[in-house]
Amino acid sequence: MNSPAMQGLRLNTPPYVKHARLIAWVADMAALCQPDQVVWCDGSQEEYDRLCQALVDAGTFLPLNPAKRPGSFLARTDPSDVARVEDRTFICSERQEDAGPTNNWMAPTEMRNILQTGEQALFKGCMRGRTMYVVPFSMGPLGSHIAHIGIELTDSPYVVVSQKLMTRMGKAVFDVLGNDGAFVPCMHSVGAPLAEGEKDQTNWPCNPTTKYIVHYPETREIWSYGSGYGGNALLGKKCFALRIASTMGRDQGWLAEHMLILGVTNPEGRKYHVAAAFPSACGKTNFSMLVPPEAAFAGWKVTTIGDDIAWIKPHADGRMYAINPEAGYFGVAPGTNLHTNPNCMRSLDRDVIFTNVALTDDGDVWWEGMEKDSGVLPEHLIDWQGKDWTPQIARETGAKAAHPNSRFTVAATNNPALDPQWDDAEGVPIDAFIFGGRRSTTVPLVTEARNWTEGVYMAATMGSETTAAAFGAQGVVRRDPFAMLPFCGYNMSDYFQHWLDTGARLQAQGHALPRIYCVNWFRKDADGKFVWPGYGDNMRVLKWMIDRIEGQAQGQDTLFGVAPTYGEINWTGLDFSPAQFQQVTSIDHSAWEAEFKLHDTHFEQLAYHLPPALSQTKDALEKRLAETV
Ligand code: GTP
Ligand code: SPV
Ligand code: MN
Repeated sequence: MNSPAMQGLRLNTPPYVKHARLIAWVADMAALCQPDQVVWCDGSQEEYDRLCQALVDAGTFLPLNPAKRPGSFLARTDPSDVARVEDRTFICSERQEDAGPTNNWMAPTEMRNILQTGEQALFKGCMRGRTMYVVPFSMGPLGSHIAHIGIELTDSPYVVVSQKLMTRMGKAVFDVLGNDGAFVPCMHSVGAPLAEGEKDQTNWPCNPTTKYIVHYPETREIWSYGSGYGGNALLGKKCFALRIASTMGRDQGWLAEHMLILGVTNPEGRKYHVAAAFPSACGKTNFSMLVPPEAAFAGWKVTTIGDDIAWIKPHADGRMYAINPEAGYFGVAPGTNLHTNPNCMRSLDRDVIFTNVALTDDGDVWWEGMEKDSGVLPEHLIDWQGKDWTPQIARETGAKAAHPNSRFTVAATNNPALDPQWDDAEGVPIDAFIFGGRRSTTVPLVTEARNWTEGVYMAATMGSETTAAAFGAQGVVRRDPFAMLPFCGYNMSDYFQHWLDTGARLQAQGHALPRIYCVNWFRKDADGKFVWPGYGDNMRVLKWMIDRIEGQAQGQDTLFGVAPTYGEINWTGLDFSPAQFQQVTSIDHSAWEAEFKLHDTHFEQLAYHLPPALSQTKDALEKRLAETV
């Protein structure tokens, strides 16, 4: 606090903060980044409103029409800052093997030189002309034994207000921390320092050319530079709750997963809990808010515990309990409408921050897919880049009104389908895991693994077509094991082993494990149209899984485990023929020969520490395939 660099800059530590190590760290970081001032956030509504107003004054937020979308704002980012940047994301473990072949790696000292210690270190003076906000947050219910605390230092007020919606943020965190509690330090700067007296030239300060999203798993630190966008900047989310938490889970015997959590209750009141991993922009938010088709599922209810991340701990009773470490949704806007996801649309009625969607002439928001509700395209919009958009411009240039990765940020409490136990400090017991990718071909609608190892194999070899959630080519099939490729903070093969070990440990104690299912909602026909109706109709598949758990569906044995027969699915209210069913469930021999070659390449890349049980499972499945000619 008394360092020379801090001269003239007051730390403004509130009296209720009593954590000497935390205060010293904030002082060091302020000395490094040289903000104009330091502001400790208390998480109050008054603070949120004040910062939103400041964002409006700065031109970052556009207030939406209060009659249409009360308490809501639209932010348009720099066009270079619209998604996660996987090639700029680093796991800086001491040994490269511990980051593994799927992560970008740099030695910690080398990275610290670039960010902190070198002559030209990026964080030196990076907050000049800006305010450094101290943002205390809990991932998970405050004080829960499954929860963990982070402190984010950021020069972005957009990050502060987003963290208020996305996490349990505020003063109460300091009570849990006490004098010496553990926290994950999360450093964030948009990387756009201002000269003396200079004003922002842009509504969305960021560094268009230099970005670093950095994790030090051994010291459990996060350093993010240059981006203000979602997963790059809201450091509680992918950086902490997945990359850092996955390494904590490995060391402490629990799991941090890219999974939604839902509750499903049958008309008799029996409730099951399911956790599902789909890659980014592959349907987690939608599945977690599913509305069962009324005609077939009267009295059934699906409720949301989480839409993106699950922390899962084996309990003394032998079951795995999951919490949602987040408290809000940062969800994909395009494709969301009253037909596909009415619960989501109702969650967005008020108090929402929209990012990179389009603006209507009456001050409301719009994105591709909304025309399904209104029946017509709007005649005129302002697109996500602030330009005029008309249906004619769209036809002629292909311009999208909303960016394909445009998103909403909203508190979970807005969700009408929120599970009563969503905030339960003990979590909910998981009955089934689901893994699913976006595959136009090859992968069947649903299969149930015959055992834990086979389930881990299917998750470990999952492929998915890439989406707009990250920079890079789209629609290319890549392996995305457990939907964790961009989010695993350590060696992927060690992560597979951790899943095998976690199951084996419970089984050795005589406990039954959750079932493991694989799904694919995205098979296409020859015209490139999705064959499976998806969304609410995914309930038909979920119901079959519950029938399996309850011993009510026999299924049929296939190459990849047990699959439903046509007659085992409830088709009431849906016209879906056996031929169409065949289209989404068929297992094509030559396609699978090719697929196994891709598994080979994948396993060759992951050879270091690859669990032998997975290679053996592959051999067994390939042998089975060969025998089915
Ligand atoms: P992240 O927030 O990036 O982790 O994504 P997510 O997995 O939560 O995906 P989300 O539910 O937001 O869906 C992404 C896109 O997939 C949206 O455009 C949806 O409309 C679309 N989608 C979701 N579920 C289905 C489905 O069952 N079938 C089809 N065809 N599309 C779907
Ligand atoms: C994802 O990409 O999986 C997301 C959005 O959930 S982000 O927070 O940007 O990572
Ligand atoms: Mn996600």
